[in-house]
Amino acid sequence: MRIAIIGGTGVYDPKFLENPEEIKVSTPYGEVKLLKGIYQGEEVGFLARHGSGHTVPPHRINYKANMWALKSLGVERILSTTAVGSLKLNLAPGDLVILDQFIDFTKGRIHTFYDGDDDKVVHIDFTTPYCPELRSILYETSKELGIKVHPFGTYICTEGPRFETPAEIKMYSFFGDVVGMTKVPEVVLARELEMCYASVSIVTNYAAGISQAPLTYSEVLEVMAQNIEKVRKLFAMVIPR
Ligand code: HPA
Repeated sequence: MRIAIIGGTGVYDPKFLENPEEIKVSTPYGEVKLLKGIYQGEEVGFLARHGSGHTVPPHRINYKANMWALKSLGVERILSTTAVGSLKLNLAPGDLVILDQFIDFTKGRIHTFYDGDDDKVVHIDFTTPYCPELRSILYETSKELGIKVHPFGTYICTEGPRFETPAEIKMYSFFGDVVGMTKVPEVVLARELEMCYASVSIVTNYAAGISQAPLTYSEVLEVMAQNIEKVRKLFAMVIPR
């Protein structure tokens, strides 16, 4: 399995896989369930980040097990989705953003495979956290499909699961473009295991305080549902490239 998709909020099935079957992978960090299917003759994996019934909140996801499972299946490339709030007026609900940077505001997450347990200290370079090759394929393919995407974006990762206060958003909007709860440590662990990782963010709302209306989770789900078909089409074309 060379390529896998990680579906975030609102993406629980890639839809285009033939004969998807559920498999279980055991890892030193726990068991991971994912789907395996065929797309254009190639085996493709699909992992629902929050579980198939969306039962695992962002701060409880077993990121280490998930990334280990994909690596152990031979995955080299990961295409992931994530619902985000917008920190900038030019990033409107329904827009797609191909992330290129992140800033980590998470608090207590297990975020590395290099814990010093084997008396080794390792510092990984993070100049390009998201895979430039895969990002460029995503961007070129979006243009071919006529899908509006923003080719760059800095993702602010919060601990969650609550949404942010307007004061927090005021600060975050100084540093970043979009806000969400799951990219860290996912992208970090993927890179530590030397997998090429890219992420398409789907803007579901203006963040708290930018929008004056209180933010609801059902609003996030609704905008995801309206826009997910674009991402499916995009991934289906990117996979064979
Ligand atoms: N904040 C954090 N995570 C999110 C948001 C938001 O506004 N929208 C979708 N995921």
